[in-house]
Amino acid sequence: MIKVRVLHGPNLNLLGCRELDIYGPLTLDQIDERVKSHADALGVHVEISQFNSEGELVDAIHETRDWADAIVINPGAYTHYSIALRDAIAAVKVPTVEVHLSNIYAREEFRRESVIAPVCAGQISGFGMASYLLGLEAAKYLAEKSEE
Ligand code: DQA
Repeated sequence: MIKVRVLHGPNLNLLGCRELDIYGPLTLDQIDERVKSHADALGVHVEISQFNSEGELVDAIHETRDWADAIVINPGAYTHYSIALRDAIAAVKVPTVEVHLSNIYAREEFRRESVIAPVCAGQISGFGMASYLLGLEAAKYLAEKSEE
């Protein structure tokens, strides 16, 4: 079975009460439930975590080396400046999909750059909770492709 690590970055634990007009009404638990049922439908095993600190995200990325076929990550604000996360993704060589709830290109100037994107297979941005579901499908596609 394909195994995918889903990682949520900083402040995403506050979904459901944080900037509802931008991020929507669902809590992180509700999103995770939908990700899990989509994973079941796709026949994919998922391990989901949220971390606020950069170091914990780096550790979680390192740990994927031992078991994961792909990573789906919403790096939150770290997207825009964390070279540490970028280096961790580049180091583990596990195919990675960057996801965002909001369309980062339609927002403030500082959100329009992702330092993570160049080391990812691709990016899905702007579909709300569905960005995670599409990210999971992309992760499955990448894992199957690398097995060929
Ligand atoms: C976000 C976009 C980031 O710019 C922001 O800092 C977030 C959430 C998104 O999912 O739209 O925390 O990653």
